[in-house]
Amino acid sequence: MAPLILGLESSCDDTAAAVLRGRAILSNTVLSQAELHAAFGGVVPEIAARAHVEKLDLCAERAMAQAGVTLRDIDAVAVTAGPGLIGGVMAGVMFAKGLSTAAGLPLIGVNHLAGHALTPRLTDDAAFPYLVLLVSGGHCQFLRVERPDAFTRLGGTIDDAPGEAFDKVARLLGLPQPGGPAVEREARAGDPRAFAFPRPLLDRAGCDLSFSGLKTAVLRARDGALSDGALPRQARADICAAFQAAVAETLAEKSRRALAACPGATAFAVAGGVAANGAIRTALEAACDRPFLAPPLDLCTDNAAMIAWAGAELFALGRRDGPDLAPRPRWPLDAGARPMLGSGKRGAKA
Ligand code: KG4
Ligand code: ZN
Repeated sequence: MAPLILGLESSCDDTAAAVLRGRAILSNTVLSQAELHAAFGGVVPEIAARAHVEKLDLCAERAMAQAGVTLRDIDAVAVTAGPGLIGGVMAGVMFAKGLSTAAGLPLIGVNHLAGHALTPRLTDDAAFPYLVLLVSGGHCQFLRVERPDAFTRLGGTIDDAPGEAFDKVARLLGLPQPGGPAVEREARAGDPRAFAFPRPLLDRAGCDLSFSGLKTAVLRARDGALSDGALPRQARADICAAFQAAVAETLAEKSRRALAACPGATAFAVAGGVAANGAIRTALEAACDRPFLAPPLDLCTDNAAMIAWAGAELFALGRRDGPDLAPRPRWPLDAGARPMLGSGKRGAKA
């Protein structure tokens, strides 16, 4: 029988725990901190870290109870050891070390980005190598996944992540957070051709991306559309539609290039909260010349099932960490790639 793995995730604003046996997700618990941060317009690292410390044991207990198992049944503990907001990562790693020491269980430190990137193997049994596009509030990169512990980064954002851009655009237009769903809703009533927003970096070879110029263009469009100091409803919808179309088209074109650079990739997968966007999913699928994999939303956004799964893959390869496992604020999946710029409100982009 496949080993029973307890996964723990606390690198941003979700405290999460999950129990997996092979590809069977026996439980997948997420305690969101959204309410704690709502008044601040973004994730406050100190508040996040403290909430993780308070909630990790409850979350792990719930996950085991829902799975109908106890700590005695668990074969290994997998924990996010980075990249992310360091206070939260420390809280998770300390808790996992305590559990593994007390129960005499093997400990496996997992890279959060590897968790996202390996999810298509959990959901669709994707065969190596495959191409994955991570698009969330904190991440934006194309990765060729070669093994559970070998990744090549083909390109990524040189400034903001797309989710960050959606959130900022929502703020500029007076829409609620998180911005992505709000902008998508508003865009339904808009005309994407009403504003000609830039398609950043399309003139540059390769698959790097940039979203901060697009945000500035939205700010200018908003100011130009003001009437008596207020933004007319239709203009707001048009700006949302045009912005979303610019992001979708840019991501699709860069995906075409990344696919062309990976002739041997068996599939193209998306991961991250932005993959929830209908227009973006449709554009990516249309750009894809091989099987297109879009995991269910609760496995696209931050969760511990992906950490347990990545842990299970590493466990099978014989990876074990000791009490010296170090929490890492930055941890690029591809150590050979040049560092990503920016640190982002959701922590390091790795
Ligand atoms: O993966 P995720 O839950 O958290 C991390 O960033 O790690 O992604 C959240 C991001 C937010 O920036 C949110 O605005 C964006 O994903 N998002 C969307 C949509 N739903 C969530 N962006 C565009 N369209 C959506 N429907
Ligand atoms: Zn994430």
